[in-house]
Amino acid sequence: KKKSVLVVGGAGYIGSHMVRQLVEAKWNVVILDNLSTGSRQLVHGGQLVQGRLGDVGLLDQLFSDHDVAAVMHFAAFSQVGESVDQPLKYYRNNLAETINLLDAMVRHRVLRFIFSSTAAVYGEPEAIPITENHPRQPTNPYGNTKLAVERMLADCDAAFGLKYAALRYFNAAGADPSGEIGEMHDPETHLIPIVLKAASGHINNIQVFGTDYPTTDGTCIRDYVHVNDLAQAHLLALNALFDGGASAVYNLGSSSGYSVKEVIRIAERVTGKKIPVVEGPRRLGDPAVLVASSEKIKNRLGWVPVYDDLEKIIRTAWNWHLKQIS
Ligand code: UFG
Repeated sequence: KKKSVLVVGGAGYIGSHMVRQLVEAKWNVVILDNLSTGSRQLVHGGQLVQGRLGDVGLLDQLFSDHDVAAVMHFAAFSQVGESVDQPLKYYRNNLAETINLLDAMVRHRVLRFIFSSTAAVYGEPEAIPITENHPRQPTNPYGNTKLAVERMLADCDAAFGLKYAALRYFNAAGADPSGEIGEMHDPETHLIPIVLKAASGHINNIQVFGTDYPTTDGTCIRDYVHVNDLAQAHLLALNALFDGGASAVYNLGSSSGYSVKEVIRIAERVTGKKIPVVEGPRRLGDPAVLVASSEKIKNRLGWVPVYDDLEKIIRTAWNWHLKQIS
């Protein structure tokens, strides 16, 4: 049997970009996705198994049928606001289902794991840029579930020798330049796709959530990182585990921050459209500034993000958006 990578959530936004790179790197890829937020439209390669992490029999079958060398786990709910209103939905999907997955891995002696974590584990930052040893004090259930899994992974390393990389994403953005896969959420809550919908006239305007933050123009600053650069970092982390590397936690960001108003201005330049803006109140739970230090993964694993400015990132997102609406 050829060695495989099992990509849980491989039919989602970030997972589908990962699958593409694994296939390009000549991996045999098995995708497990329940298609609750993912889509068949995003699967172009790899073998899709539609199913749930709660289905222990299915997990046993997957690990028996395939020689799984490592697991990558992208299957989680990720909306901060929703997690505040429906915490148990988040604990069940993001934490309890991950226990099932790790349990099956340990049973089948598959001991390499790449985990999608988040900047939300830091909560309100005490210092910018945020390094990996910044205190973890999530301010919402979403961040709590991701931090709980990180802790569980450390315990599983100690107990079973599970080797893992926990990758704390800042704001994932953009799309593969092919235009075949990209961001597709329903409802869409993320800034860049909403801004592009406003540019193409699919919605009337973009509402800016808060203009009274202690930033240069009063709007929130975020660190946008291209989804293919994220996927590249996963490949490096995976290879480091195969080389016998220890478990590790890495931030993944571009290290530069852009305000909401700057994002809109750059999107106007990319699209050539005037984007109608409505200024609204703050959204609950949004920190004013989130910018990563990604020096650790650059130094240790040689990660070099290709999309080093936001205009390039938005260009790829616009390319995908235009293909979607045509
Ligand atoms: N924003 C608007 N209007 C909108 C949508 C967003 O002004 O219609 C603003 C937000 O207030 C925020 C910025 O645009 O200041 C970015 O918002 P996103 O919703 O695109 O992303 P977030 O920074 O809120 O969230 C992302 C991930 C989360 C993760 C978080 C912290 O989606 O999963 O980063 O890492 F938890």
